[in-house]
Amino acid sequence: MRQNIVAGNWKMNKTLQEGVELASELNSILAGKTPNCKVVIGVPATHITEVVKTVDASKIAVSAQNCADKESGAYTGETSAAMVKSTGAECVILGHSERREYYGETNEILKEKTNLALANGLTPIFCIGEVLEEREANKQNEVVKTQIEEALFHLSAEEFGKIVLAYEPVWAIGTGKVATPEQAQEIHAYIRSVVADKFGAEVADNCSILYGGSCKPSNAKELFANPDVDGGLIGGASLNAEDFVGIIDAF
Ligand code: G3P
Repeated sequence: MRQNIVAGNWKMNKTLQEGVELASELNSILAGKTPNCKVVIGVPATHITEVVKTVDASKIAVSAQNCADKESGAYTGETSAAMVKSTGAECVILGHSERREYYGETNEILKEKTNLALANGLTPIFCIGEVLEEREANKQNEVVKTQIEEALFHLSAEEFGKIVLAYEPVWAIGTGKVATPEQAQEIHAYIRSVVADKFGAEVADNCSILYGGSCKPSNAKELFANPDVDGGLIGGASLNAEDFVGIIDAF
């Protein structure tokens, strides 16, 4: 059966020292608990090695927020999937809407990043989601289907089985505007049906689909109560141990 997951995405926040402090605080709180979900923290690339050393790997997995679409070589400033893996990270967030919007990441580029992440033994946390105009035009299903089709449909069922999906409506990211539990359930169920049509019911049943967008301790429980919402990808509320643990405790 699929795993429930609460994953933090720190984005471009925290210096190395601040990040290690937050990871350490989280580690201490979780040492005294047995969470009912897998806990992941997506930290800046510069922090991964130290954060990996700081946390108990049996309680907290560490994720990168991106990797390159090339294997290695003359790509100044890039970080390859192999490099990410060598830091001790277990996952990599791919296709976040901020990367799509500000860094021109297309489904074609994300296809390459996914291939390299999988080839290097990383679990992609693959983000999809529509912008406000698309939601207003009731095009959200079409949008997420195309994102999945173009970036992930070339995978085998076995490879797809290693992917975690994160549905993040762009209009809910960092806006304080959260999808209603009904909206989340409806589109998560649709996403699962897209996966089932292509890869079969078993793969779809086993696929964790996270919700992201203004998820907080106060709304996590009702979002996670939906049968097709298997956890959250958390931005702002992952920058503070108390809030993040409040969301973990929603399971
Ligand atoms: O990847 C997490 C995300 O984009 C949601 O951010 O700040 O709305 O929780 P936030």
